[in-house]
Amino acid sequence: MRTQVGIIGAGPAGLLLAHLLQLRGIESVVLETRSRQEIEATIRAGVLEQGTVDLLNETGLGERLRREGLAHEGVILRFGGQNHRIPLAELTGGRCITVYAQHEVIRDLVKARFDSGEALLFGVKDISLLDLETQLPKLRFHDEGGALHEIACDYIAGCDGFHGVSRPSIPSRLRKEFVRVSPFAWFGILVEAPRATEELIYAYHEQGFALISTRSPKIQRLYLQCNPGDTTSLWPDTRIWEALHTRLAGDDGWRLSEGRIFQKSVIAMRSLVVEPMQHGRLFLAGDAAHIVPPTGAKGLNLAVADVRVLAQALAAFYDAGSTDLLERYSETALRRVWRAEHFSWWMTSMLHRFHDESPFHHRLQRSQLEYVTSSRAAATMLAENYVGLPFDKV
Ligand code: FAD
Ligand code: DHB
Repeated sequence: MRTQVGIIGAGPAGLLLAHLLQLRGIESVVLETRSRQEIEATIRAGVLEQGTVDLLNETGLGERLRREGLAHEGVILRFGGQNHRIPLAELTGGRCITVYAQHEVIRDLVKARFDSGEALLFGVKDISLLDLETQLPKLRFHDEGGALHEIACDYIAGCDGFHGVSRPSIPSRLRKEFVRVSPFAWFGILVEAPRATEELIYAYHEQGFALISTRSPKIQRLYLQCNPGDTTSLWPDTRIWEALHTRLAGDDGWRLSEGRIFQKSVIAMRSLVVEPMQHGRLFLAGDAAHIVPPTGAKGLNLAVADVRVLAQALAAFYDAGSTDLLERYSETALRRVWRAEHFSWWMTSMLHRFHDESPFHHRLQRSQLEYVTSSRAAATMLAENYVGLPFDKV
């Protein structure tokens, strides 16, 4: 078998790259270990930056997003028992975030891929990457039925997430990994309940962080800071509601209403960046190359930004034979990656309770929260990063 671009992983990075390439007449094959049902049902991100929404719309993927996505013009920081609103649109010349679940983006992308008639293989096993330093790298794998295949490619895109095989395929002496592990995790739940708030609430409290997001008028998405070793069995419903009520308590009369919890999970909080994001004819994109803690809602958006750069670079090669953009892919992508790493680290540091830190540190956090919600300059800094800097700025 032969293709132009072999893509490993059918997450947002892999599927969107395949779509962007197809629009430019570049052929690809997407290989995914899981089933279509699994990838379309995995609950993950929810917040899309303005640039992500614009790109999905411009490339014909926005029909359901425009109908079902919820544009938010502001976000709330809650501390000291009160809400403090950051007017995102007002501070950024009209840019917003849109709440639209990642698995809905995946469903739209899978549909577009099948409509295009190009290859997307589920249930593949034992993928290995061969001859990356030659002009004809290869992907070897077993298909769903167990048959062995080899695809020769011009280029390979490693879009297989944090636990994939692509990143370790770069020899360890040629790759540097920057890692930071947080001393806490997030406990995420899905709840059947009416919407509790018009805009997302990020809450800081001495007992820990809490976040109220949404999925639909009837389904809400909530998170709370927990210990990294926690399991779902340690968090019966009563403990979850007690913690949420405590962390969201206030003197403004607002109270979260409870509902039926139908999904629970523990989400690790870590930061990782690999440099460079390319080796020979392999290019990494999305979580395969970098992880951010979820506080800034940047992971999915960074995956989108990476493949936008990669698709442009591949198009320059196929249209004009130029490899300049491909050679600079890592350097270009890493500028936005490190901006998002910094923003995610900053939001995480400001909003979580560090139990081993001194009261001095806690006072610093309060001072930062007060500053960011009272100074237009500081609020603008948060807003422009949260809605996503324009692609041509970073
Ligand atoms: P993935 O989505 O991980 O996709 C990789 C795919 O590759 C998977 O389908 C996997 O099965 C497949 N794969 C793995 N190994 C192989 C292999 N060997 N061969 C073939 N296929 C393989 N980001 C945001 O922007 N906003 C948010 O609000 C947000 N909230 C989040 C909340 C939670 C609870 C979590 C967990 C994450 C959140 N993120 C958020 C991060 C976001 O979900 C990820 O950054 C995003 O999924 C990255 O996309 P990706 O395509 O790079 O990787
Ligand atoms: C959601 C996830 C995030 O990480 C975040 O910062 C905001 C919202 C969500 O799943 O809705």
